Parts: sequence; structure tokens; C-alpha cells
Amino acid sequence: MDSLFLPGVARILDVRDETPDTKTFRVVLRDRAAHDGFEFQPGQFVELSVFGCGEAPFCIASSPTRPEYLELTVRRAGQLTDALHRLGAGDEIGLRGPCGNGFDVAAAAGKDLVFVGGGIGLPPLRGLIWNVLDQRERFDRVTVLYGARTPNDLVYKDELKRWAERSDVEVLVTVDRGEPGWDGIVGMVPVLFDRTELHPRTSLAFVCGPPVMITFVIQDLLMRGFADHAIISTLERMMQCGVGKCNHCAIGHRYVCRDGPVFSYSQIKELVE
Ligand SMILES: Cc1cc2nc3c(=O)[nH]c(=O)nc-3n(C[C@H](O)[C@H](O)[C@H](O)COP(=O)(O)OP(=O)(O)OC[C@H]3O[C@@H](n4cnc5c(N)ncnc54)[C@H](O)[C@@H]3O)c2cc1C
Ligand code: FES
Repeated sequence: MDSLFLPGVARILDVRDETPDTKTFRVVLRDRAAHDGFEFQPGQFVELSVFGCGEAPFCIASSPTRPEYLELTVRRAGQLTDALHRLGAGDEIGLRGPCGNGFDVAAAAGKDLVFVGGGIGLPPLRGLIWNVLDQRERFDRVTVLYGARTPNDLVYKDELKRWAERSDVEVLVTVDRGEPGWDGIVGMVPVLFDRTELHPRTSLAFVCGPPVMITFVIQDLLMRGFADHAIISTLERMMQCGVGKCNHCAIGHRYVCRDGPVFSYSQIKELVE
């Protein structure tokens, strides 16, 4: 894309229902050259516009190792997401980006990777997980720990099953409240730590989810011996420009849209102290 200020037109190829209020949109930029030149890191986001309605940030939920399309997983929250949910295959939207910093995949090479996601916090991790699985030999153990409020709120159910069937990935899923038919684990995400073997000294933990879940998970990881710099998370702030110009997302001397949204816990501590 030529400019971070100018949206490109993208066509929706496919829409998948994840939960009653969340859908995954597979899109491609209409200009083939712009699509082929769209390079991004897992963890980066785009500013998505629904024409005549407005613009909002969404993380790229697909992996750069699968460059044929971009995927965005969107929960219906208000006016813009409501309008987006009414669109289908063949409809067009605007995309501006990629914005933000993304996860440092190179720094994760050779390490044990622990992905901890809560609810709609799995999409930013999903791009990174596929990125890791598509070059599996570069990393040591891979563990995915995921929780949602109810079985109905779990996103990527088919992929979670497919990952769990692999011998080189450990997947544990929990729900806060079970339902008839759910015979899996019940409890908040941190209950999963006792069901897996963690190696804090050789691991990086990637944590995304609602703020309260992130707080509890980080406390638990620290208690289990993870160093501040080995815990990596994303911050969400209300945003407008997405490129460090409007001051909407500032925390201290940082702009979450430009310097983040990915931060290590050492950086987060520095920002909030
Ligand atoms: C970097 C970044 C990445 C994001 N990635 C995703 C994603 O992958 N999938 C997804 O579903 N959503 C994501 N979001 C949140 C998404 O941008 C908002 O839900 C969206 O702006 C809602 O727009 P709306 O017009 O539909 O609702 P609005 O009417 O604008 O908002 C509905 C409600 O959500 C609250 N809200 C809106 N934006 C935020 C925010 N940034 N933080 C906390 N509360 C907010 C509002 O206060 C309001 O209560 C992301 C946000 C950021 C900053
Ligand atoms: S959203 Fe404008 S500075 Fe971050």
C-alpha cells in the first residue's frame, strides 16, 4: 500500500461465523500489486473502513506465511462492526495499514512458546501461531492455552481441534462456565497452567485477551518464574489515526498505535508506573 494515510479497496472473499457475535472475514486487496506488496508482521493491525460508516482498528488474524489473503476476526460491538457483519462475499471495504509494531518472530526462534488467549484475544495470536506452525522447525515446544466464557464463545473451534491433533503442539482449552455437552475443562484461563509443563527460563509467553484476564495471567506467569521481558502482550486503546498523529492512544510518552500494540511486560510496567 502506497500510504498509511490512504485506504486501499479490499474485496471480501469469504465470511465465517465463529460465535453468535463474531465473524472472520477473508479479504484481498482489489489492486493485485498492492496486495502482493502488502507486507506485515503477526500482531500488526489495519484500519478497516466500511464505506459511509467509519473506520476502526482490527488486528490481522492471518499469517504472513499465507500471503494469498488477509483475515480479520471481528466481534459485533457497535455501529461499524454491525455494518461490517452485514457485508458478505463480493462486498468491498477499505483497508489502511499495516499499522503498529507486531511480534518479534526472529527473537522467538529456538525458544519454547506459550500462547495464552482469552475470548476475542485469540485473533492476534492466531496469526503468530500459524506463522510459527508454518516454520515449525525454528521453534522448540509450542503450547496454546485458550479460554472463553462459554463453549459458544470459543473462536476458531476447527483450528483448535486441528492443532490439538498435531504431535508437535499442545492445546488446552477451558471455559468459565460449562454447558450441557461440554466435557472439557471448566475454569478461568490460569487453571490451564497446572495442566501443562512450563519452562519459564527457556520460554516466551504471548498473552492476549480482556484486560482483567491479562492481569491475572501475567501475575501467574511471574509467580511461576517468567521474567518480565519474556512476557509479551498487546495493549488496546481507543484509536483514531492509527499512525501516531492524533494523540488518542497515548500512554505516557508512547503511542499504542505506533510503538505498540505489542509490548513486553517490562515495557508495560515502565508505561504505567
Ligand atoms: C489495535 C487494536 C486491534 C483491535 N483488533 C480487534 C480485532 O481483531 N477484533 C475485534 O473484534 N476488535 C478489535 N479491536 C476493537 C475494535 O477496534 C472495536 O471493537 C471497534 O472499534 C468497535 O467499533 P464500532 O463502531 O462497531 O463500535 P463502537 O460504537 O465504536 O464501540 C462499541 C463499544 O466498544 C468500546 N470500544 C471501542 N474500541 C475500543 C477499544 N479499542 N478498546 C476498548 N473498548 C473499545 C466502545 O467504548 C464502546 O463501548 C481492536 C482495537 C485495537 C485498538
Ligand atoms: S491513534 Fe492516533 S496517535 Fe495513536
